[in-house]
Amino acid sequence: MTDDLMDAAVERIARRAPGAGESASASRVWWEREADDYQAEHGAFLGDAEFVWGPEGLTESAARLLGDPADLAGGRVLEIGCGAGQCGRWLRGQGATEVVGIDVSLRQLHHSRRIDEATGCRLATAQADAQLLPFADAAFDAVCSSYGAFPFIPDAAAALRETARVLRPGGRLAFSVSHPVRWCFPDSPGEEGLRVRDSYFDRRAYVEEDEQGRALYVESHQTVGDWVRAISGAGLFLTDLVEPEWPADNTEVWGGWSPLRGKLIPGTAIFAARKPEGA
Ligand SMILES: C[S@@+](CC[C@H](N)C(=O)[O-])C[C@H]1O[C@@H](n2cnc3c(N)ncnc32)[C@H](O)[C@@H]1O
Repeated sequence: MTDDLMDAAVERIARRAPGAGESASASRVWWEREADDYQAEHGAFLGDAEFVWGPEGLTESAARLLGDPADLAGGRVLEIGCGAGQCGRWLRGQGATEVVGIDVSLRQLHHSRRIDEATGCRLATAQADAQLLPFADAAFDAVCSSYGAFPFIPDAAAALRETARVLRPGGRLAFSVSHPVRWCFPDSPGEEGLRVRDSYFDRRAYVEEDEQGRALYVESHQTVGDWVRAISGAGLFLTDLVEPEWPADNTEVWGGWSPLRGKLIPGTAIFAARKPEGA
């Protein structure tokens, strides 16, 4: 990453189609800057060794989208966009022999190391782009991602093909993203976040740019149908699509997610899929 991008200021918002490299570079810049605040604000909600799928608080121990946790015992799991590795530590606690976390942000991985040292559960991590995974074909029994990478990547179909490549036949994939319907609404937790502003069908990414037009933050949009086609186009079959409801006892406001909106519209979509045996 170039230092000048790290120091650049956001000058305008664009709606356009960014390239893969541009998206990875923007995510790296944004998460290097935000990692400390993100972990300080959300670390307690996420837990050090818990697998939380999103702001609603649904956990993998309740949802079981990667299957029976007992089946993970002895397995090798990849977590994409692992941040501070909270999900990976939970998977290790279920008996997964190896969990590898990749993240484009080194600062996020520093937080993973910090929690490793505090908990004594050390994860293997690597700074890498989800769009170009540094692993052999069929290297993992399962791949997961809780809001890691997929909400930001412009070409979801290509990213899912890359993910499917490293999954062994019969292996499971589960990942969460902002629910596509949220794209229509302002990203605000209050009443103003309940009025439709943008077209659900407008696939142009949201891009924050500096004065030279360089991307500093990229968020991408796929409709529900786009996600389904990207999953099946990657040779996987969809086993579930979970839209967690907002629990009455969750009073947390997380960015544009809130109890007010959570009662009315879905905030998170979690896709679960399998790679066919013999693929
Ligand atoms: C919202 S955070 C989620 C982190 C973690 N899964 C959690 O639940 O806290 C998104 C993470 O995805 C990472 N990320 C974004 N784009 C990525 C990419 N192209 N490749 C790998 N990681 C990426 C970010 O650096 C960040 O750590």
